[in-house]
Amino acid sequence: MPQARVETVRPQTIHLAGEFVESNLGSAVEPDGSVTVRAVGQQYSFTPQCMVVPTDTPVVFRATSPDVIHGFLIQKTNVNTMLVPGYVSEIPARFSKPGEYLMPCQEYCGVGHEGMWAKVKVVDKPEFVAMVSANRRVTCVE
Ligand code: CUA
Repeated sequence: MPQARVETVRPQTIHLAGEFVESNLGSAVEPDGSVTVRAVGQQYSFTPQCMVVPTDTPVVFRATSPDVIHGFLIQKTNVNTMLVPGYVSEIPARFSKPGEYLMPCQEYCGVGHEGMWAKVKVVDKPEFVAMVSANRRVTCVE
């Protein structure tokens, strides 16, 4: 699905400065109560490896790639886009019940493509709120 709005980012420096530095990845609660999940797909992993979101809440995934094109697909949902170096992909979503969704990379990105995946864990809203109060950015990476 092409992005409706074009937003660019410098792929060479996403690890060093700006929105996609590692400390800013994961889930953040916005002032309006919605949740933004920031992620990076690179050869051959996603960061964070496990993204956590609450039920019954508007969620926006914002993600990019520093190297080649990767797929950002959440199985059993309509979230399916590409991560293109130099661009930010923004995908809205909403999850009605707790569960886990696999995120296999959906674009051939090199020899490690088959092993590139992440997951999304949906938790009840009160559980998510409790996680957020302890950390500014939350993930379910153990
Ligand atoms: Cu990343 Cu295929």
